[in-house]
Amino acid sequence: MLLRRIWPFSRRETPEAEDVLQAKLDRRRLPKHVAIIMDGNGRWAQRRGLPRAVGHRAGVESLRCVLEACCELNIPVLTVYAFSTENWKRPVDEVNALMDLLVEYLRREVAELHAKGVRVQAIGKIGALPVMPRQELEQAMRQTAGNNKLTLNLALNYGGRVEIVEAVKTIARQAAQGALQPENIDEQFFGRYLYTAGLPDPDLLIRPSGELRLSNFLLWQSAYTEIWVTPVLWPDFGRRELLEALIAFQGRERRFGGVKV
Ligand code: FPP
Repeated sequence: MLLRRIWPFSRRETPEAEDVLQAKLDRRRLPKHVAIIMDGNGRWAQRRGLPRAVGHRAGVESLRCVLEACCELNIPVLTVYAFSTENWKRPVDEVNALMDLLVEYLRREVAELHAKGVRVQAIGKIGALPVMPRQELEQAMRQTAGNNKLTLNLALNYGGRVEIVEAVKTIARQAAQGALQPENIDEQFFGRYLYTAGLPDPDLLIRPSGELRLSNFLLWQSAYTEIWVTPVLWPDFGRRELLEALIAFQGRERRFGGVKV
């Protein structure tokens, strides 16, 4: 009982079946933008005595599965945190494994993503990625640019603070050149200088693996995002967990700082 009080998420003894969850979901009130911190790959692998890279590979399968479900549910935008500006601090073997996985994923999946109507986009300092993943990503973005079923937004070499600082620098440069008036800067204007320009803010942010932090992800865009945390590690995250998150989201009362009328 005490554990339940301090542990914000209590797993049910017998998880609900997918069809029970599907029946609970109101398909008219789904989020327009779901963001996910794909966390827990390392722990998933370590618990099995496997290299961390195996956990990341298993994480790609979860991404496949969640993307498929989002397509079925007509959720228009899915943003996933695949590599942060801080992830360069990891051992070089792990960084290389992640870059190789990205190349492999895009080569293997892009044709199917394209056929499904998925538009691949990226946020982050993409120009600083190694040549192979960068070229593969650019090719995937070009090939799928005309699609509108779902936008798969890959956060790669992404950091929320860097994103804000870059936007401020661009705005300051333009102001110094007299190309814009500081008085005209408001929240909407600022949003156009972020990597996510043109995308709606995330309605729902999912964090697997039980950590209760944002980890520098979509800091500006998450101002009024509903956050759902689960102890399930990302490689074990599937359709059922996505449905649980969506149902929890539908149970939230979103006031955006106002009051319920
Ligand atoms: C965090 O788990 C996860 C990452 C840093 C990488 C996420 C990447 C993938 C799921 C695969 C690559 C993506 C694509 C699009 C091909 P962690 O390693 O920090 O886990 P831990 O907290 O348990 O150590």
